[in-house]
Amino acid sequence: MTRKLFVTTALPYANAAFHIGHMMEYIQADIWVRFQRMQRDGDAKREVHFVCADDTHGTPIMIAAEKEGITPQQFVAKIAAGRQQYLDGFHIGFDNWYSTDSPENVELSQGIYRKLRDAGLIVTKVVDRFYDPVKGMFLADRNIKGECPVCHAKDQYGDNCEVCGAAYQPTELVNPFSVFTGSTPIMKPSEQYFFALSDPRCYTFLKEWLNTPGRLQPEMVNKVSEWLGVAGEKLADWDISRDAPYFGIPIPDAPGKFFYVWLDAPVGYLASLKNYCGKNGIDFDALLNDPATEQVHFIGKDIVSFHLLFWPAMLNFAGHPIIDKLKVAVHGHLTVNNEKMSKSRGTGISPLRYLQLGMNPEWLRYYIGFKLNAKVEDLDFNGDDFVARVNSDLIGKYINIASRCAGFIAKKFDGKLASTLSPKAQQWIGRALTVNGAERQANIAANFDHREYGKALREIMEIADITNQYVDENKPWILAKDPEKSAELHDVCTTALILFRQLTIMLSPVLPQVATRVAEFLGDDAYAWRDTGGAAVYESMLGREIFAYNHLMQRVDAKMVEELFDRPAAVAAVAIAAPAEGIEELASEIKIDDFTKIDLRIAKIVNCEQVDGSDKLLRLTLDVGEGRLRNVFSGIKSAYQPEQLIGKLTVLVANLAPRKMKFGVSEGMVLCASAADEKADPGLYVLEPWPGAKPGMRIR
Ligand code: MSP
Ligand code: ZN
Repeated sequence: MTRKLFVTTALPYANAAFHIGHMMEYIQADIWVRFQRMQRDGDAKREVHFVCADDTHGTPIMIAAEKEGITPQQFVAKIAAGRQQYLDGFHIGFDNWYSTDSPENVELSQGIYRKLRDAGLIVTKVVDRFYDPVKGMFLADRNIKGECPVCHAKDQYGDNCEVCGAAYQPTELVNPFSVFTGSTPIMKPSEQYFFALSDPRCYTFLKEWLNTPGRLQPEMVNKVSEWLGVAGEKLADWDISRDAPYFGIPIPDAPGKFFYVWLDAPVGYLASLKNYCGKNGIDFDALLNDPATEQVHFIGKDIVSFHLLFWPAMLNFAGHPIIDKLKVAVHGHLTVNNEKMSKSRGTGISPLRYLQLGMNPEWLRYYIGFKLNAKVEDLDFNGDDFVARVNSDLIGKYINIASRCAGFIAKKFDGKLASTLSPKAQQWIGRALTVNGAERQANIAANFDHREYGKALREIMEIADITNQYVDENKPWILAKDPEKSAELHDVCTTALILFRQLTIMLSPVLPQVATRVAEFLGDDAYAWRDTGGAAVYESMLGREIFAYNHLMQRVDAKMVEELFDRPAAVAAVAIAAPAEGIEELASEIKIDDFTKIDLRIAKIVNCEQVDGSDKLLRLTLDVGEGRLRNVFSGIKSAYQPEQLIGKLTVLVANLAPRKMKFGVSEGMVLCASAADEKADPGLYVLEPWPGAKPGMRIR
């Protein structure tokens, strides 16, 4: 039977751009999906549908939109437009990116709700809710602010404190007020809709579902079992309704009531799949009801209760047979240099900045893959470790094989691989690809399949180690000097490239772009996993003509990684005990008017070149946003190569009288830092503004 996989990642909130933690989840899922797409069941290719969507509903997004003076729909459209650059940038191959604010989601969410209601699992209760008496509306947690009951920080939301991190009920706030009118909210009874999780049917179902072998990670089974209690006594009904005004989906037959965002968010998985099916002529209902279809969600540890209690219960009691094939793969969180990401401290590293610095996305894919296992463990991005891991494994072990051997095939053998292999070469291939008489590829495949990527990649690197040992022992660069050793050289380089191809196929879920380029170089079609076993390993390679080898991947430059990090916040906190040595005396005091006479502007260095006949100057062409370009000479030749400066922003004294020089007129002055004692530090340091500054902005 051909397996059909319906795979998702969590639907990110549409209130902000992606951070590096999101990319980690997408990389984890994408590696798995690419691995599955390489598989065949019998002769048929495994069918994989990989979808996601923006999670658009709820109060925070309403508030964010209101702040910008646009509708929530406009707000989420803006966020959605920013998504693709990240996905393309890191080679994340979703088949569809959709939205929970969509007709499919309305229809599916309301449909599931009606089925739950018909099953007797929707109950209503009257509960006290905060109400704004001036505006005449109920207030969501985030519509109420006040003083944090724990640390007494002012102006905190009704659900948690951004200063001390405490979580609480809005009723616990000190001096609460409505964010809309500033008035003191009053308590007012309101009828709310609940999903009756306390119904014994839910416990019976969940208990069995959780404990189905192979469905969940053992630590998750334990955790959720605790939430259930011994006999389900800990399961409480779940409030699924919110009062208007709310950006969400209306509850059928309940005017003024909307689904709480977490009710319709997971239904968004189905909505995205349905939208994708519609666009591709696939029968959605047939796919969903096909016993061969498996549903797999990749999510983080913070959203487990929604995915392991409410969502399975919803699917089950709404009569979706796919519940039997539902798996949830939970990962830990990514930290950066062992710090949790937080809004106030920034996210450590920005995925876009990573790309803008020209860093290779497959470095990150490999590094994250290497650190991942199937447990719910946090993993840390550490700059030094990243540089060391990528350079040693990808460049030093893997790419190195091709760069040491490919050239000889082109130069000495007209681009043709040998048509037979010596017994010794065959032995080495066996040594590299098997362990204890079994093919390593089966083990590697099992590890990819079970999300033990670290283990899979370690074993792949063992193959690379043996291959390098083979090349080192046979030294093709020495063989190449002796015409009589030509056949041996051919044998060695062919063997090394056969193993390089094997490594590439096994790495291709992690390094899809490199794999595509290797396939072009070797004249292969898209790689399938079955190319890694038995005769497929080298039969098709013998006597084959290959193409020119172009370098496949650069080393990581540690400087790039330094630039990737935000300014360390810790620096500001360091106590300053004594003035730095050799510090220049301060100039005499000035008044603010003296300062404002100087017009400092942000300038973009659109061009920079050497000045013939000058050993001090560089010629800069600057854009100061004036609709014309300025010519400025600067005495920084000793400190910079022109290429280093082109494209950068800097600071210009823009109202300095033009000065005629030997080489032309200079229209302003670029600022530099330098030490008082030139001998102690001869450096000149051009100023560069923080990201976001634009040419022409004034510095004041
Ligand atoms: N909108 C909900 C999910 C709804 S699913 C029906 C949500 N969105 S989120 O944007 O906050 O998070 C999306 C995913 O990113 C979640 O799986 C979350 O665990 C994951 N991550 C958030 N921070 C992360 C890290 N630091 N590291 C790894 N994953 C992280 O929750
Ligand atoms: Zn607080």
